[in-house]
Amino acid sequence: MPNSKPTIIAITGASASGKSLFAHTIYEELVPEIGEHGISIIKEDAYYREQSHLSMEQRVLTNYDHPDAFEHTLLTEHLKQLVNKQPIKCPVYCYKTHTRTDEFIEIQPTPIVLVEGILLFSNPELRSQFDIKVYMDTPLDICLIRRIQRDTIERERTIESITQQYLTMVRPMYYQHIEPAKAYADVVITKGGKNRMAIELLKAKIRQLISKKQ
Ligand code: CTP
Repeated sequence: MPNSKPTIIAITGASASGKSLFAHTIYEELVPEIGEHGISIIKEDAYYREQSHLSMEQRVLTNYDHPDAFEHTLLTEHLKQLVNKQPIKCPVYCYKTHTRTDEFIEIQPTPIVLVEGILLFSNPELRSQFDIKVYMDTPLDICLIRRIQRDTIERERTIESITQQYLTMVRPMYYQHIEPAKAYADVVITKGGKNRMAIELLKAKIRQLISKKQ
């Protein structure tokens, strides 16, 4: 990698707002041009706290939409390591057991690092690591439909548990911690993770950054 500092790009917004699709589309479309050594993705969800010391009943009660649910200090430390061109051992999280697995994924430093997650702007030190801050401003009713579809299929949740969690935690935490953080964003994206113009604009910016780093 050339000598210049890696660029860290944060993509945040409500749960199921399309952050992951947006980040992965940019990644998949740029890899053929800049290679797998040019860009990487980190999920904030990987930094949910280790809960193996709690029973399953206790784990279900955790508020996963509050900043305290995340080990943001570790994510901050890892981003600093990547900026210093050191590899990191990223935890692997399991939504079915509500805790981390024993596995780690080694992520090598790349000139562009995409980070996606719901509460990336909630911690000042973490927030200060980002060179570009993107907010996905997808209407909450669309997010809720997507969340129900995803959580029933991919996370093996019942409609009752999804509704209960949504009303008591997801929705209130969105208004308390996520929506106000939009003010920190450099770019606000409407129309969700498939917004083609937004994808092209960010890809163009990344290409420009890469060409300057060479
Ligand atoms: N969550 C959960 N159970 C856990 C851990 C997290 O239900 N054990 C939920 C939290 O309630 C939180 C959500 O996971 O709202 C965070 O993931 P989300 O942002 O929805 O996932 P992404 O795939 O990154 O979202 P997007 O659809 O925007 O790509």
